[in-house]
Amino acid sequence: MIPIAKPIIGEEEKEAILEVIASGQLVQGTKVHEFEERFAELCGVEYAVATSSGTTALHIAMLAHQIGPSDEVVTSPFSFIASANCALYAGARPVFVDIEPDFFTIDPAKIEEHITPKTKAIIPVHLYGQACDMDAIAEIAEKRHLAIIEDACQAHGATYKGRPVGSFGTACYSLYATKNMTTIEGGMLVTNDAEVAERARLLRNHGSPKTYQHVMLGYNMRMTDLTAAIGLVQLDKLAGWNSIRQANAAYLTEKLSAIEGVVTPKIRPPIYDPHT
Ligand SMILES: Cc1ncc(COP(=O)(O)O)c(C=O)c1O
Repeated sequence: MIPIAKPIIGEEEKEAILEVIASGQLVQGTKVHEFEERFAELCGVEYAVATSSGTTALHIAMLAHQIGPSDEVVTSPFSFIASANCALYAGARPVFVDIEPDFFTIDPAKIEEHITPKTKAIIPVHLYGQACDMDAIAEIAEKRHLAIIEDACQAHGATYKGRPVGSFGTACYSLYATKNMTTIEGGMLVTNDAEVAERARLLRNHGSPKTYQHVMLGYNMRMTDLTAAIGLVQLDKLAGWNSIRQANAAYLTEKLSAIEGVVTPKIRPPIYDPHT
């Protein structure tokens, strides 16, 4: 069997882990901070908050946007279950909007018919690294005063018209072992909203701005420095890996689409050309 997603963890990652263990600074230390800064840069945003998984990043995003019981969010039914579960964790209701058949991402033309006075956010999912139609989604969000919470858990380094996904509102990434880059388990919330970032930081660490001071109900959704150290090494490799994946996808698409009856997924323009 050919594994579809084999994590690539090499000598540099092993060395980085040993360095953290030797340092004794294991949780929420300098490596986590450095990883957050570098990840924010990747997404072209101000703030990044490292978490224990993509699911916890999405959960925190709901709460940081003050989405709660009796609220609704619209999202795609064609995703991993966490895209909808995050709303349920917050007591809110996920409302499903069908996908664009060509691109497998939420269809902006169908979003507005699902918006009610209870709707608080749109959760577009950039599935398989395919960016959603963010111009159309951003226009609806602005017109209807909704937050955008991008599920970018499968879209590290993806762009929409040259702009990084993850920069259109608040966005959440998974760093699980099968993702384009990994920290084994881990997640990241990114945003340009200082208040959302501040609430997210409190929520991930027991509502605690400093030791033994707790200003709100929070959770333990922290990232370890071991995790962050792996992430820092993987970040340097991400662009190269993404190019290889794109070239592989282009090859498979070319060969498979030549077979009668096989329909291959389309890529939202501009399309990557492995020959240029
Ligand atoms: C689209 C999507 N959303 C959310 C998640 C949840 O991320 P994690 O597994 O890190 O909790 C994943 C990962 O599997 C995912 O693919």
